[in-house]
Amino acid sequence: MKVLVATEKPFAAVAVDGIRKEVEAAGHELVLLEKYTDKSQLLEAVADADALIIRSDKVTAEVLDAAKQLKICVRAGAGYDNVDLDAATAHKVVVMNTPGQNSNAVAELVFGMLVYGIRKFFTGAAGTELLGKKLGILAFGNVGRNVARIAKGFGMDIYAYDAFCPKDAIEAAGVHAVDSQADLFKMCDIVSLHIPATAETKKSIGKDLVGSMKKGGILVNTARKEVINEDELLALMAERTDLLYLTDIAPDALDAFKAFEGRFFATPKKMGAQTSEANINAGIAAAKQIVGYFKDGCTKFQVNK
Ligand code: 3PG
Repeated sequence: MKVLVATEKPFAAVAVDGIRKEVEAAGHELVLLEKYTDKSQLLEAVADADALIIRSDKVTAEVLDAAKQLKICVRAGAGYDNVDLDAATAHKVVVMNTPGQNSNAVAELVFGMLVYGIRKFFTGAAGTELLGKKLGILAFGNVGRNVARIAKGFGMDIYAYDAFCPKDAIEAAGVHAVDSQADLFKMCDIVSLHIPATAETKKSIGKDLVGSMKKGGILVNTARKEVINEDELLALMAERTDLLYLTDIAPDALDAFKAFEGRFFATPKKMGAQTSEANINAGIAAAKQIVGYFKDGCTKFQVNK
């Protein structure tokens, strides 16, 4: 079988080596398409692929139409909003993700961005500290749990809300469970977003939630730009000159946000999961899932039906 790794933003070389070993040890062939700049390159590369490993690469109906041999697509990572699941199901392509494999890397970046932000972007001006601050974690999945673990080391007061995770499970992790996301925003100094981009969450973080934050509120986004209502957040930041927005995903209205000097920061490229460790974990997990699917028909981690 031909396994194509198609990554606009490549894995670390050491991760590609690991993927290759898994694929070749099982008797399959590995093909690499890295740093492609045009969709046509992806359309050409998928034509004879039996399996596909991607990151945030978009797998649309057009890509699936071109991938005549494709049987399985694994998103090496958590969020699979970049894959048209209905089209994949219609094309009889199994789609999987690799939950948890890159979550520590994303969680560590939350604190990298936070320290950078509250220390006034290292300008030399007096900043603030994380010790004793109230941290709100929106969604207590793999990343949220890692954020909580690290926050304990900073001595933060940690709160979480997750519509799908029982309060007991949150409390068992040593985190205060709150009743709603509205409460989380109201009571916390900092809110860190760990929700996926779904029909329900898109544009859900806007004026009402962020506007309810205390003076000096900080919003950290290592999730998806789509969950932000950018127009509302821009209007709010113009009104509330105390708010800080730190994001790992450049907003569509990047220039408008950049105008809030000293109150906005976006990484030049999305880099939450961009560590060798995360690439190795997620990439090799993806390769193993493909090998397992071809060998035993194992569909653990399938996200389309
Ligand atoms: C994920 O959903 O796993 C993260 O957003 C990482 O995305 P990336 O693989 O494009 O860095």
